[in-house]
Amino acid sequence: MKNMKKILCVALVFVMLFQSSTMSYALLDEIDRGLWDTAWESKTETVEAAVTMFVGNDENDRTIAWYSDADEGYVELINIKGSEKIEAVARQTAEGDYRLYTTLTDLEAGLYTYKCVSGEYESELYTFTIEDNENSTVLYVSDIHVTEDNEESPNELCDTSYLWNEVLEEAVKTAALEGNTIDAVVSGGDQASEGLRNEYEGLSSPALLKSIPFSVSVGNHDRKSVGYKDYTANPNEADQTFKSYIGSDYWFRQGNALFLILDSCNVSMREHYEFMESAVEQNEDAVWVIAVMHHDMFGGREPWLDSENAMLRLLWTPFFDEFGVDMVLYGHSHYYSVSNVIYGRETVEETGHNAELTDPQGTVYIASGSITRHASVLDDEGNTPPVGENAGYTHVEEAETIYNLMEFTDDTLTFKSYSSENDEEFNRITITKTSKQGGHSYKNSAWYLKPIAFFVGRIVNIINNVDMYNRYKEQGFDVSLKEGLIGS
Ligand SMILES: [Fe+2]
Ligand SMILES: [Fe+2]
Repeated sequence: MKNMKKILCVALVFVMLFQSSTMSYALLDEIDRGLWDTAWESKTETVEAAVTMFVGNDENDRTIAWYSDADEGYVELINIKGSEKIEAVARQTAEGDYRLYTTLTDLEAGLYTYKCVSGEYESELYTFTIEDNENSTVLYVSDIHVTEDNEESPNELCDTSYLWNEVLEEAVKTAALEGNTIDAVVSGGDQASEGLRNEYEGLSSPALLKSIPFSVSVGNHDRKSVGYKDYTANPNEADQTFKSYIGSDYWFRQGNALFLILDSCNVSMREHYEFMESAVEQNEDAVWVIAVMHHDMFGGREPWLDSENAMLRLLWTPFFDEFGVDMVLYGHSHYYSVSNVIYGRETVEETGHNAELTDPQGTVYIASGSITRHASVLDDEGNTPPVGENAGYTHVEEAETIYNLMEFTDDTLTFKSYSSENDEEFNRITITKTSKQGGHSYKNSAWYLKPIAFFVGRIVNIINNVDMYNRYKEQGFDVSLKEGLIGS
């Protein structure tokens, strides 16, 4: 009887953990950590399939991906009008099995249920909604660092996945309290610590990632191995010759916002420039332009990276000036910071706490904290790490997890930051634009650097890629036949 109870309990947890619906959001709240652990220990094919809903081209598209032994499969999509089977595309992974993915396009507003089917595998039923809202809400996080890389904690993969799941649940509840639903989850890189497949399986284990589209970007930790490349299925990827092995830039639309997702581990700036130029041209109607990359450029806090950060500012910020980017979101430092309004690498307007800006004549750069690897309040010498000279507002608390909700309307963008200790908002930035252009001049603040950045960037890209190629080979992955390693 006791065993039966235990089995029922575990079965219930699996249903709660891996099925997605409005009902399960509420039930998930009740999950006791012990039950999550029990469920995790008997890691099933549900975790290993790593079903993930990625962003599509816009808010009416979704891409669904999962791992499979079979190279054929489909997504069965059910709504009030009936059901249809949509064939998946198969991409071989470095492990030799497949990542299947399919893109659902032009979905009408309403409630949908789906399951993934391939070979012997049939997923749970998952539910999602296509909203019919004028306005959008996007969750921004960075440095999730799902990992098992901790010798002192044999349960680290389970622990970090649990923390990540908690943040997602809390963010959904916080948004709901303000009458909003989260339309997309955007992550600024370092989703994993070692770039390993089991880390991405943990990353995708929260039920919410089967229902809310997810957008990830390349962090320096993601590219330590090949897991990121196999896991992701991104829309509008740039066909770049000089890119890093595991990723390239891509864009997507969420309502009136254009998101440019940039691989800042690749320093071939010509590729980034051409990508941004093309994406902005194709989305002339977008009111807001948001760039997402991994490396924090204005927060300071890491004096040993000052020269690298100065170089990154020199390479990237002229492009953001030229394309009228409203916000650049990143992470990497694990320290929360909001820059002043920046143009030409200089402060043109101060921000500070709860900044309210109208037609700012530049870009605001925001670093979020890490989900599982909290920044130190004091450095090794017992001092508070120094902040960057163009930082407008910074925030650091011991062992604090931060998440951010962005709310877009046609004339305002509100970026609200919350501490998951108490789910209280501790900072917000509001940008109001009186026209689509706002205060942007669309002028490259360092055009004379472009040819040098283009040339040197390609050389450095090749050197980096040879290094990564050797690293992946040492790890036992035969990546030599895959595209994009040193051009293709
Ligand atoms: Fe990180
Ligand atoms: Fe990083």
